[in-house]
This record gives sequence, C-alpha cells and structure tokens, in this order.
Amino acid sequence: MCGIVGYASTISTACGKPLEVCLQGLERLEYRGYDSAGVALAAPGMDQVAVRKKAGRLANLQADINNRPLPDATVGIGHTRWATNGEPSDVNAHPHTSQDGRIALIHNGIIENASRLKFDLQAEGFTFASSTDTEVVAKLLGRIANEIVDTTGRPDLFEAVRRTARMLTGAFTILAVDVRQPDIVVGARHDSPLVVGLGEGENFLGSDVAAFVAYTKQAMELGQDEAVCVSGGSVTVTDFEGHPVTDSRRFTVDWDASAALKGGWDSYMDKEIHEDPRAVADTLLGRYDTDGDLNLDEVRIDEETFRQVDKIIIVACGTASYAGLVAKYAIEHWVRIPVEVELAHEFRYRDPILTPRTLVVAISQSGETMDTLMALRHAREQGSRVLAICNTQGSTIPRESDAVLYTHAGPEIAVASTKAFVAQVVAAYLLGLYLAQVKGTMFRDEIHQIVDSLKAMPAKIQQVLDSQADTVERAAKSLADARSFLFLGRHVGYPVAMEGALKLKEIAYTFTEGFAAGELKHGPIALVEAGEPVVVIVPSSRGRDLLHNKVISAIEEVKARGAFVIAIAEEGDPDTERYADVVFWRPACPTLMSPLVDVVPLQLFALDMARLKGLDVDKPRNLAKSVTVE
Ligand code: G6P
Repeated sequence: MCGIVGYASTISTACGKPLEVCLQGLERLEYRGYDSAGVALAAPGMDQVAVRKKAGRLANLQADINNRPLPDATVGIGHTRWATNGEPSDVNAHPHTSQDGRIALIHNGIIENASRLKFDLQAEGFTFASSTDTEVVAKLLGRIANEIVDTTGRPDLFEAVRRTARMLTGAFTILAVDVRQPDIVVGARHDSPLVVGLGEGENFLGSDVAAFVAYTKQAMELGQDEAVCVSGGSVTVTDFEGHPVTDSRRFTVDWDASAALKGGWDSYMDKEIHEDPRAVADTLLGRYDTDGDLNLDEVRIDEETFRQVDKIIIVACGTASYAGLVAKYAIEHWVRIPVEVELAHEFRYRDPILTPRTLVVAISQSGETMDTLMALRHAREQGSRVLAICNTQGSTIPRESDAVLYTHAGPEIAVASTKAFVAQVVAAYLLGLYLAQVKGTMFRDEIHQIVDSLKAMPAKIQQVLDSQADTVERAAKSLADARSFLFLGRHVGYPVAMEGALKLKEIAYTFTEGFAAGELKHGPIALVEAGEPVVVIVPSSRGRDLLHNKVISAIEEVKARGAFVIAIAEEGDPDTERYADVVFWRPACPTLMSPLVDVVPLQLFALDMARLKGLDVDKPRNLAKSVTVE
C-alpha cells in the first residue's frame, strides 16, 4: 500500500534527473496504490521544497507537471497513494510539508497516535490543511528540525527524522527532504517496507526494488526500526537512537528491468498470465540435482530440524492462501503430517497451537502483507520456525523468517495475482517433497516421478494458453452481463474454484463465490436459477473416478435447475462433454498437478470479462497489491 521512491546524486548542479527517477519509480510502484500521486524536489538556493500532487492516477500528476514544469533539483521524493486516512484528493495527496515549507515528507502506513500529536501541535498554533496522519508527521518533523537548528546552529534532517520516528506509533515508512540539506534524502521504517538502491554516484530509496531497478540492481535491506540517510556518495544506516548499523544485507536484484514493463501486452495481467509457464519453470530451477533429489540448501534450516517437523501451518492472505490450500492436499498426502491453512489475519487472534516442531509457512508474493507478517511474528514468538515462500527479494517477510524459498515468478505488477499463484503452488510442493525426502515418507523414485510431473507442467500450461484462449473469450462474451457466478470444485479443485471466483470478483466486480462442490446441496444450490452461470472444476476420471463422478453429479444437479455450466475438464472427458455448456479443456496430468493448469483459463476468463466491461484490469477499484496495513 502506497509506493515510495527517493533519489539523491553527487551532482551538485540541479537537473531534471531527480524528477525523472521519481516519476518512473512511481510508474513502477503504481500497483501499490493509485488514489493520488505527488513529488517533492529540493535544490540549493530554494526557500521551500517544490511540491506537486494530484488526486487520481499518476497520469494526472504527469499532465500537470507537463503544463507547469517543476524546477530542476538535486534530490527528490515521490509517492503514490492508497488512501487509509483521509479521502483521495489533491490536498490529502502526499508529499506533505512542514509549516515553513522547508521540509517535505511522504509516508506509507498508519500513524496510530496522529490525533494526539495533532492536538498537541494545534495547541502550539500549527494549522492543518488535510485530514491525513501524514501531515501531522510533516509538521512534527518540521518543528523538530527547526529546534535542532536553533540549538546547534545547523540543520540535521537525519537526527530530526530519528527523533520524529521515536514519537510515532503504528506502522510507517517515511521519507523526507529539506531545502537546507539539498544533497540528502532521509528515511525511517517501522513495520512498513523500505529498501535502498545503490548506484554509482547516486542512491535510491524505494518501497520495493521495482522503484529503482531501471537504474541499479544493487540493493540493500533496511531492518526494522532503522533510519537511513542517502546522498549521492553515501548511505548511512542507524537505529532510531542514532547507533550505527553496519551489517545491512546487500543483494543483487534478480529481476531484469524490462521484466517490470508491459512489453507490448495490453495489460500487465495479460502479460503475467502468459508468464505462468515461465514462473513454474523458473521456480523449479536449481531445486533438484541430476538424480532428481530435492536440494533446498538455500532455505537455511538443517535437515534434522525438518525431520522433527510434526505439523505445518500455512499462513497467507488472498490468492496466496488458496495456493496454500492446494499445497495442503499434496503435503498431507506426501508427508503424512497435518497441514493447516489459516488466513493470516485470523491466525494470531485464535491462540493457535504452536510448538518448536511446528513449521509455519508464510506465503506472500509481495513479502509485505502486514497480516501475514504479524502472523509470522506471533509464530516465532511462540517458538515455532517460520519458512517464507515469497516472490520479492529484500522484502520484510523473508527477512523476518527463519528460512525462505523464493518463487521466481519475476515482478508481478497487476493487482490481481496470477503467475505468483502457480509459482507459490510449485514452491510449496517442493517444500512438501523435500520434507518427504528427509523424513523418508516417500520412496526416492516416487519423488522423482513427481518432480518429473512438475517439470512437464510449463508445457501443459502453455498448451492451455495456446488452445483455450478463444473458447474462454467466447464464453466471456456470452456471459459479460451475468450478475453473479458460482464456482465449484472438490479436492484440489476446491481452492482453484475459490481462486477463480476471487479473480472475477477482483477485476470484473462480479458477485462470485467459490464452494466445495460437496457443499452444493447444503445451501448454494438455492442460488441456482435459470441461466445462472456455474463454473465447475472437474477432476480427471483416471485415478480418482469417485471424485469425478461426484462432481459430474453436481453438474447434473445444477443443470437440472437451469444453470449455464462452464466446466474445466481433462481432454476427452465424455461426461463433461455431455453435460456442460462450455468446456475449457486441460491436458492430462496427475490430479495434484491439475491446479497449475486449471487456474489458467480462470485467470483468462476474469481478464476477458473485465476487458469486456471496459475496466482497468491492472488497477481494480479500491484494491492495492501490497496490503501493508492490518
Ligand atoms: C492483496 C492482493 C491479492 C494478494 C493478497 C496477498 O489482497 O490484492 O492479490 O493475493 O494481497 O498478497 P501477498 O503479497 O501477501 O501474496
């Protein structure tokens, strides 16, 4: 939620680069929030920071700057907002400034003691233009910065930001610039993300690496409760008390800058769905040796500890939780230990049973979802080990976990998660197979067979993309006006049904619900009337004939009540062919692999439905990709 970018260079002559870096950073971070956007620039000789901010999409801000150009600068900060505090409007947009206009500040998070601080500042005569918590911090920072000037005779924005940070409660990343020190950008973080980009004669700050990957791939993590001061030639990190921090982890971003661009596709979502095969292939890469044995050395938990694991709890939100639910079926089957899947926001409020032998698996594309972060902290406090399955290097969830298994899906920009889902399923499967290997619950050749099945999946997903897109589009056209959809599935088809329903809800704004097909007769069937579209995931009849027959019965039952049935079924399935109105065909694959292909037409279907309705598929209303507040 909210995207943040900052830039400083060694060039002491003001130029257009700080603005350019901020705007392009915001473009790449816009998926984090798009209610409003703004920038602030500082340069030697300025009396006040130059601030420009506009409600609405980044394009509004860009157009405004084109009409009334901003001055050249030496440092800059930029912000794209997902409103938590105060409606989206020009005045509530960030940056906010100090009373004297010398300092500008941007913020991601929620300041919980903002009203108290505002009350105190108002008592001192400060006035407020917006209804945001951020303006309170800007005014407070301005006051503290001036106090430092008054007592020491020189400005010290770094110290002022630290003192301010110590007074704040809640979650925040703040970045600030001050015209009295137009060579630095200062940041601080608590429960909200911030990473440093390390350039040659220039340094960057960003909510995530997407903010600066076009300029540098060298990055540095910032720990919890740390403050950072970047100039063109230096990066200094301290804690909020000012003690130096010298062990910040550096890493090289493994995304190509172009991977975060649309590359000729109409939308990021379309591009990312077409990257499903690649996401699966890349997530498998390097995770098994030439004999087919799993090799997860990178996760940093020793084999003995894995051997001791007697329960897994998967915590996640949204799409990631459905990936976890798919993995539950596989891991319980392979490893013979219980796997619970819990929505992260419910987890820590229900006193879960956690022991040192419980492995908590936190699944998160962004690595920043606050609910998931809080759940993992709770698990660690209770003495359990946490393994993160994550797509974003340098993010908070892997940093705070005992171990991490990265999904190599590449940057996912569209708000609705697609390629991350298939990559998360693969990573969780690898974890399950690895546990089976170290615990000896499966024969080696069984594991090798499953690894081989996984290796075959990218080609099968590609086959679905190549062969089903037209059928999917035709179905979407015929159902574009449908007011609601039911999605049904059994076994691994159940989480896939919920994920398909979520996609349609998120981007096409259609009322949808995903159900376990077995629940149909316990309620949902009452919703079925003539023409009601019902999407059914039909398991293969090979191997799980009983399941297949039961799902076919569910189709018959809804058909008998006039439903319009879209089925996803294995190529050549005569029963489905007989009863369904439309079929999206899946190539034959083992049941546990089927979610990797079945989700694909559902992703395409949601995309087509949203397009047909003329909606912005990448930036659905009210949503943000990275939900960094609870
Ligand atoms: C938000 C996004 C979803 C995503 C969920 C979890 O709700 O809109 O697409 O599945 O967060 O995000 P994470 O980054 O933790 O996977």
